[in-house]
Amino acid sequence: MLDITTVAFAHHKGGTGKTTSCLNIAGYLQKNGKRVLVVDCDPQANATAGLGINPETLNVSMYDVFMSAFEGFPDIVINDVIVPTTSGIDLAPATLDLVGVEPYLYSIDDRAGLLKEALTRVRDTYDFILIDTPPSMGQFVINGLVAADHTIVTLDPGTFALKGMEALSTVFCDIREMLGENVTADFAILTRWKGSDGRAAGAGGLALFLKRIFSPGPSAEDEKEGERLKMFESEVRKAFKQVFMVPYSPAIYETQQHGLPISHYAPETDAGREYRTITTALLELDGKRNEDVSL
Ligand SMILES: Nc1ncnc2c1ncn2[C@@H]1O[C@H](COP(=O)(O)OP(=O)(O)OP(=O)(O)O)[C@@H](O)[C@H]1O
Ligand SMILES: [Mg+2]
Repeated sequence: MLDITTVAFAHHKGGTGKTTSCLNIAGYLQKNGKRVLVVDCDPQANATAGLGINPETLNVSMYDVFMSAFEGFPDIVINDVIVPTTSGIDLAPATLDLVGVEPYLYSIDDRAGLLKEALTRVRDTYDFILIDTPPSMGQFVINGLVAADHTIVTLDPGTFALKGMEALSTVFCDIREMLGENVTADFAILTRWKGSDGRAAGAGGLALFLKRIFSPGPSAEDEKEGERLKMFESEVRKAFKQVFMVPYSPAIYETQQHGLPISHYAPETDAGREYRTITTALLELDGKRNEDVSL
């Protein structure tokens, strides 16, 4: 088994929790003593900002790494663009310029493997490389999936499970057929999950007790939504080896504003605990659990 593990976060729909999951799992891996690199492959640069780096201050970024494959562009390797962040996680940042890369990529045959190739230079430096991808079916997602040992698919309660998965499965199949790379989704994370009974998963304690006493019973609409979520959850469970539910939590937004993962800012929240559980599962999947260090 190789020492390094590369994980891509993917879903073509916007706002399903790819960046949030990438950063928070990176945070718990870092807290576990792992050397972690986050690679931002999304021109929106949310992972970059989420780790406290302002993309506008950067001279070089993943744009330059991709463009160095083309004649007339400076020879910049991934090591040249990596920056340390306050959390202890290293970052290969993105800027809006990344939008300009995709048209170039279509002009070369080996476009799908550029990121995988670029990452070979840092294989000895990190234990985990986590790749954040944009909400599209484009070349950055394909590059992320090809480079990854594991893929984590994120879904939110507004996603239509089957339709969403059909499109993603098509990309996985195409990659398998065209490139001979085996891409499978190991985990699904349901983010901002309210649970099939309409409650935030993981929420409990006094607040829930009081809410239950004082709130009227569920409306017909709540029950219908609950049924929809239940079906959604069971479809997702059929499609993935492991499924995790991260509850809605205001702490998620706050941590992003502070440029830190939840592991470093608000670990004792429901969402923090769930991301810790997911990280433990990832370490176990990979046989890399370090029993000496508590997450
Ligand atoms: N568990 C959660 N509780 C509360 N808010 C959340 C939770 N997970 C994600 N969010 C919020 O939802 C929004 C979308 O999340 P995120 O940016 O991670 O999605 P994404 O899939 O990366 O989006 P995009 O497709 O645009 O890259 C963000 O504002 C984030 O703060
Ligand atoms: Mg994102």
